[in-house]
Amino acid sequence: MVEQLSGGLVLVLVAGTTMRPGQAQGPHRPSLPPPVPTDPKTASLNKPTLAKVGDTPTYLITYLKREVYMSSEEILKEVAAEASICTKCDLYKSRTKAVPGEGNPHAKIMFIGEGPGFHEDKQGRPFVGPAGQFLEELLASINLKRADVFITNVVKCRPPGNRDPLPQEINACNEYLDRQIAAINPLIIVTLGRYSMVKFFGSEKISAIHGRARQVDGRMCIAMYHPAAGLHQQGLKDTIRADFKKIPLVIAEAERLAAEGKLKAEPPRPKEEPPEQLALF
Ligand code: URA
Ligand code: SF4
Repeated sequence: MVEQLSGGLVLVLVAGTTMRPGQAQGPHRPSLPPPVPTDPKTASLNKPTLAKVGDTPTYLITYLKREVYMSSEEILKEVAAEASICTKCDLYKSRTKAVPGEGNPHAKIMFIGEGPGFHEDKQGRPFVGPAGQFLEELLASINLKRADVFITNVVKCRPPGNRDPLPQEINACNEYLDRQIAAINPLIIVTLGRYSMVKFFGSEKISAIHGRARQVDGRMCIAMYHPAAGLHQQGLKDTIRADFKKIPLVIAEAERLAAEGKLKAEPPRPKEEPPEQLALF
Protein backbone atom coordinates (compact mmCIF):
# COMPACT_ATOMS: atom_id res chain seq x y z
CA MET A 1 0.00 0.00 0.00
CA VAL A 2 2.77 2.35 0.89
CA GLU A 3 4.59 1.54 -2.32
CA GLN A 4 1.67 3.09 -4.22
CA LEU A 5 2.09 6.40 -2.47
CA SER A 6 4.37 9.05 -3.80
CA GLY A 7 7.20 10.13 -1.51
CA GLY A 8 5.52 13.52 -1.18
CA LEU A 9 2.31 12.04 0.09
CA VAL A 10 4.14 9.95 2.63
CA LEU A 11 5.82 13.10 3.87
CA VAL A 12 2.53 14.95 4.16
CA LEU A 13 1.00 12.12 6.14
CA VAL A 14 3.93 11.82 8.46
CA ALA A 15 4.02 15.58 9.00
CA GLY A 16 0.29 15.50 9.80
CA THR A 17 0.81 12.93 12.50
CA THR A 18 3.48 14.99 14.20
CA MET A 19 0.75 17.51 14.92
CA ARG A 20 -1.69 15.04 16.42
CA PRO A 21 -4.12 12.72 14.70
CA GLY A 22 -7.04 14.07 16.73
CA GLN A 23 -6.40 17.58 15.47
CA ALA A 24 -7.85 16.62 12.11
CA GLN A 25 -11.21 16.65 13.90
CA GLY A 26 -13.11 19.83 14.67
CA PRO A 27 -14.76 22.76 12.94
CA HIS A 28 -12.03 23.29 10.33
CA ARG A 29 -11.89 19.69 9.33
CA PRO A 30 -12.06 19.44 5.55
CA SER A 31 -14.53 17.00 4.06
CA LEU A 32 -12.75 13.70 4.30
CA PRO A 33 -13.74 10.12 3.83
CA PRO A 34 -15.26 8.66 7.00
CA PRO A 35 -12.96 6.62 9.22
CA VAL A 36 -12.71 3.00 8.26
CA PRO A 37 -14.99 1.18 10.69
CA THR A 38 -13.12 -1.07 13.05
CA ASP A 39 -13.99 -4.69 12.97
CA PRO A 40 -11.65 -6.62 15.26
CA LYS A 41 -12.32 -9.74 13.21
CA THR A 42 -10.78 -8.16 10.13
CA ALA A 43 -8.12 -6.16 11.95
CA SER A 44 -5.56 -8.82 11.17
CA LEU A 45 -5.98 -7.94 7.47
CA ASN A 46 -3.97 -4.81 8.21
CA LYS A 47 -1.07 -7.04 8.89
CA PRO A 48 1.80 -4.98 10.22
CA THR A 49 5.21 -5.53 8.77
CA LEU A 50 8.54 -4.23 9.91
CA ALA A 51 9.47 -2.95 6.45
CA LYS A 52 10.35 0.73 6.64
CA VAL A 53 9.87 3.86 4.56
CA GLY A 54 12.56 6.22 5.70
CA ASP A 55 12.57 6.01 9.46
CA THR A 56 8.90 5.20 9.87
CA PRO A 57 7.79 1.56 9.95
CA THR A 58 5.37 0.65 7.17
CA TYR A 59 2.77 -0.58 9.63
CA LEU A 60 2.69 2.83 11.23
CA ILE A 61 2.30 4.68 7.96
CA THR A 62 -0.44 2.27 6.98
CA TYR A 63 -2.28 2.84 10.23
CA LEU A 64 -1.61 6.55 10.51
CA LYS A 65 -2.73 7.17 6.94
CA ARG A 66 -6.16 6.04 8.10
CA GLU A 67 -5.90 7.16 11.69
CA VAL A 68 -5.00 10.73 10.81
CA TYR A 69 -8.73 11.13 10.21
CA MET A 70 -9.71 9.48 13.48
CA SER A 71 -9.85 11.09 16.91
CA SER A 72 -7.42 10.02 19.63
CA GLU A 73 -10.34 8.31 21.40
CA GLU A 74 -11.20 6.29 18.30
CA ILE A 75 -7.61 5.19 17.74
CA LEU A 76 -7.19 4.11 21.37
CA LYS A 77 -10.44 2.15 21.21
CA GLU A 78 -9.27 0.48 18.04
CA VAL A 79 -5.93 -0.50 19.60
CA ALA A 80 -7.74 -1.87 22.68
CA ALA A 81 -10.14 -3.89 20.53
CA GLU A 82 -7.28 -5.39 18.53
CA ALA A 83 -5.19 -6.19 21.61
CA SER A 84 -8.15 -7.94 23.26
CA ILE A 85 -8.16 -10.59 20.53
CA CYS A 86 -4.49 -10.40 19.56
CA THR A 87 -2.52 -13.59 18.98
CA LYS A 88 0.72 -12.03 17.73
CA CYS A 89 2.80 -13.55 20.53
CA ASP A 90 2.35 -16.51 22.85
CA LEU A 91 1.27 -14.36 25.78
CA TYR A 92 -2.30 -14.51 24.46
CA LYS A 93 -2.45 -18.18 25.47
CA SER A 94 -2.30 -17.53 29.20
CA ARG A 95 -4.01 -14.14 29.48
CA THR A 96 -7.38 -13.66 31.14
CA LYS A 97 -7.81 -10.16 29.74
CA ALA A 98 -5.49 -8.04 27.63
CA VAL A 99 -4.55 -4.77 29.35
CA PRO A 100 -4.27 -2.15 26.62
CA GLY A 101 -3.92 0.82 28.95
CA GLU A 102 -6.24 3.60 30.05
CA GLY A 103 -6.49 7.27 30.82
CA ASN A 104 -6.87 10.62 29.15
CA PRO A 105 -6.69 10.35 25.33
CA HIS A 106 -5.22 13.88 25.30
CA ALA A 107 -2.87 13.42 28.25
CA LYS A 108 0.24 15.59 28.34
CA ILE A 109 1.99 12.84 30.20
CA MET A 110 2.08 9.12 29.52
CA PHE A 111 3.42 6.41 31.86
CA ILE A 112 4.75 3.21 30.35
CA GLY A 113 5.34 0.19 32.57
CA GLU A 114 6.44 -3.32 31.86
CA GLY A 115 3.48 -5.68 31.62
CA PRO A 116 0.29 -6.65 33.43
CA GLY A 117 0.57 -8.63 36.64
CA PHE A 118 -1.95 -10.91 38.38
CA HIS A 119 -4.52 -8.24 39.23
CA GLU A 120 -4.21 -6.39 35.94
CA ASP A 121 -4.75 -9.62 34.00
CA LYS A 122 -7.97 -10.31 35.93
CA GLN A 123 -9.35 -6.78 35.57
CA GLY A 124 -8.02 -5.75 32.16
CA ARG A 125 -6.70 -2.50 33.70
CA PRO A 126 -3.09 -1.36 34.16
CA PHE A 127 -1.47 -0.82 37.56
CA VAL A 128 -4.35 -1.87 39.81
CA GLY A 129 -2.32 -4.08 42.21
CA PRO A 130 0.13 -2.99 44.93
CA ALA A 131 2.47 -1.28 42.44
CA GLY A 132 -0.56 0.59 41.12
CA GLN A 133 -1.47 1.80 44.60
CA PHE A 134 2.01 3.23 44.96
CA LEU A 135 1.76 4.80 41.50
CA GLU A 136 -1.51 6.49 42.51
CA GLU A 137 0.14 7.83 45.65
CA LEU A 138 3.02 9.17 43.55
CA LEU A 139 0.58 10.82 41.14
CA ALA A 140 -1.32 12.38 44.05
CA SER A 141 1.95 13.78 45.39
CA ILE A 142 2.13 15.98 42.29
CA ASN A 143 -1.60 16.71 42.19
CA LEU A 144 -2.37 14.31 39.36
CA LYS A 145 -5.03 11.62 39.16
CA ARG A 146 -5.09 8.54 36.97
CA ALA A 147 -7.69 10.22 34.78
CA ASP A 148 -5.28 13.08 34.00
CA VAL A 149 -2.61 10.82 32.50
CA PHE A 150 -2.41 7.78 30.25
CA ILE A 151 -1.00 4.56 31.71
CA THR A 152 0.07 1.56 29.67
CA ASN A 153 2.75 -1.13 29.36
CA VAL A 154 5.21 -2.43 26.77
CA VAL A 155 3.35 -5.75 26.61
CA LYS A 156 -0.41 -5.80 26.88
CA CYS A 157 -0.79 -9.39 28.13
CA ARG A 158 0.55 -10.84 31.38
CA PRO A 159 3.73 -12.88 31.17
CA PRO A 160 2.97 -16.13 33.04
CA GLY A 161 4.05 -16.05 36.67
CA ASN A 162 5.08 -12.40 36.20
CA ARG A 163 8.26 -13.42 34.40
CA ASP A 164 10.08 -10.75 32.39
CA PRO A 165 8.67 -10.14 28.91
CA LEU A 166 10.78 -11.72 26.17
CA PRO A 167 12.33 -9.64 23.38
CA GLN A 168 10.04 -11.21 20.77
CA GLU A 169 6.98 -10.43 22.91
CA ILE A 170 8.03 -6.79 23.32
CA ASN A 171 8.64 -6.55 19.58
CA ALA A 172 5.30 -8.11 18.69
CA CYS A 173 3.46 -5.68 20.99
CA ASN A 174 5.47 -2.58 20.09
CA GLU A 175 3.09 -1.61 17.32
CA TYR A 176 0.23 -1.06 19.78
CA LEU A 177 2.39 1.15 21.95
CA ASP A 178 3.56 3.20 18.96
CA ARG A 179 -0.01 3.76 17.84
CA GLN A 180 -1.03 4.81 21.36
CA ILE A 181 1.85 7.29 21.53
CA ALA A 182 0.98 8.68 18.10
CA ALA A 183 -2.70 9.05 19.08
CA ILE A 184 -2.10 10.70 22.46
CA ASN A 185 0.95 12.65 21.32
CA PRO A 186 2.08 13.37 24.88
CA LEU A 187 4.61 16.07 25.65
CA ILE A 188 6.17 13.85 28.28
CA ILE A 189 6.77 10.11 28.53
CA VAL A 190 7.70 8.58 31.88
CA THR A 191 9.19 5.12 31.61
CA LEU A 192 8.62 2.85 34.61
CA GLY A 193 11.28 0.18 34.82
CA ARG A 194 13.86 -1.07 32.37
CA TYR A 195 11.77 -2.45 29.55
CA SER A 196 10.13 0.82 28.60
CA MET A 197 13.37 2.68 29.36
CA VAL A 198 15.19 0.73 26.63
CA LYS A 199 12.72 1.95 24.00
CA PHE A 200 13.57 5.61 24.67
CA PHE A 201 17.02 5.59 26.25
CA GLY A 202 18.69 2.58 24.63
CA SER A 203 21.28 0.82 26.72
CA GLU A 204 21.60 3.45 29.47
CA LYS A 205 21.62 2.30 33.07
CA ILE A 206 18.58 3.17 35.17
CA SER A 207 20.81 3.86 38.18
CA ALA A 208 22.58 6.56 36.12
CA ILE A 209 19.65 8.30 34.43
CA HIS A 210 16.62 7.92 36.72
CA GLY A 211 14.75 11.16 37.34
CA ARG A 212 16.52 13.07 34.57
CA ALA A 213 14.58 14.45 31.60
CA ARG A 214 15.91 14.18 28.08
CA GLN A 215 14.42 15.09 24.71
CA VAL A 216 13.78 12.00 22.62
CA ASP A 217 12.05 12.32 19.25
CA GLY A 218 10.58 15.66 20.18
CA ARG A 219 9.21 14.68 23.58
CA MET A 220 10.56 14.98 27.09
CA CYS A 221 11.27 11.50 28.40
CA ILE A 222 12.06 10.66 32.00
CA ALA A 223 13.21 7.26 33.19
CA MET A 224 11.99 6.14 36.61
CA TYR A 225 12.50 3.03 38.65
CA HIS A 226 9.51 0.71 38.50
CA PRO A 227 7.11 1.43 41.39
CA ALA A 228 7.19 -2.29 42.30
CA ALA A 229 10.91 -1.90 43.02
CA GLY A 230 10.06 0.68 45.68
CA LEU A 231 7.69 -1.74 47.40
CA HIS A 232 10.60 -3.94 48.40
CA GLN A 233 13.30 -1.38 49.17
CA GLN A 234 12.69 1.70 51.29
CA GLY A 235 15.73 3.45 49.77
CA LEU A 236 14.34 3.10 46.26
CA LYS A 237 10.91 4.19 47.46
CA ASP A 238 12.39 7.48 48.62
CA THR A 239 14.28 7.84 45.33
CA ILE A 240 11.10 7.26 43.29
CA ARG A 241 9.21 9.79 45.41
CA ALA A 242 11.95 12.36 44.88
CA ASP A 243 12.08 11.65 41.11
CA PHE A 244 8.31 12.11 40.83
CA LYS A 245 8.53 15.50 42.47
CA LYS A 246 10.56 16.67 39.47
CA ILE A 247 7.73 15.97 37.03
CA PRO A 248 5.89 19.31 37.42
CA LEU A 249 9.08 21.19 36.52
CA VAL A 250 9.55 18.98 33.47
CA ILE A 251 5.94 19.62 32.43
CA ALA A 252 6.50 23.38 32.71
CA GLU A 253 9.74 23.15 30.72
CA ALA A 254 8.14 20.96 28.04
CA GLU A 255 5.24 23.40 27.69
CA ARG A 256 7.64 26.32 27.36
CA LEU A 257 9.67 24.53 24.69
CA ALA A 258 6.53 23.45 22.83
CA ALA A 259 5.21 27.04 22.86
CA GLU A 260 8.50 28.17 21.32
CA GLY A 261 8.24 25.44 18.68
CA LYS A 262 11.32 23.71 20.07
CA LEU A 263 9.61 20.47 21.06
CA LYS A 264 8.07 18.77 18.08
CA ALA A 265 7.17 15.13 18.30
CA GLU A 266 8.37 12.91 15.51
CA PRO A 267 6.53 9.75 14.53
CA PRO A 268 7.69 6.77 16.57
CA ARG A 269 10.72 4.94 15.17
CA PRO A 270 11.31 1.23 15.34
CA LYS A 271 13.18 0.66 18.54
CA GLU A 272 16.55 -0.95 18.95
CA GLU A 273 16.59 -4.68 19.47
CA PRO A 274 15.68 -5.17 23.12
CA PRO A 275 18.50 -6.58 25.18
CA GLU A 276 18.48 -10.21 26.10
CA GLN A 277 16.62 -10.89 29.33
CA LEU A 278 17.20 -8.16 31.90
CA ALA A 279 17.02 -8.73 35.60
CA LEU A 280 13.73 -7.31 36.90
CA PHE A 281 15.10 -4.22 38.54
N1 URA B 1 3.55 -3.63 36.67
C1 URA B 1 3.60 -3.13 35.42
O1 URA B 1 4.66 -2.94 34.84
N2 URA B 1 2.45 -2.85 34.84
C2 URA B 1 1.27 -3.02 35.39
O2 URA B 1 0.27 -2.73 34.75
C3 URA B 1 1.23 -3.54 36.71
C4 URA B 1 2.39 -3.84 37.33
FE1 SF4 C 1 -0.67 -9.40 21.22
FE2 SF4 C 1 0.80 -7.84 22.78
FE3 SF4 C 1 -0.82 -9.67 23.86
FE4 SF4 C 1 1.37 -10.44 22.56
S1 SF4 C 1 1.32 -9.22 24.46
S2 SF4 C 1 -0.69 -11.33 22.35
S3 SF4 C 1 1.49 -8.90 20.92
S4 SF4 C 1 -1.45 -7.86 22.67
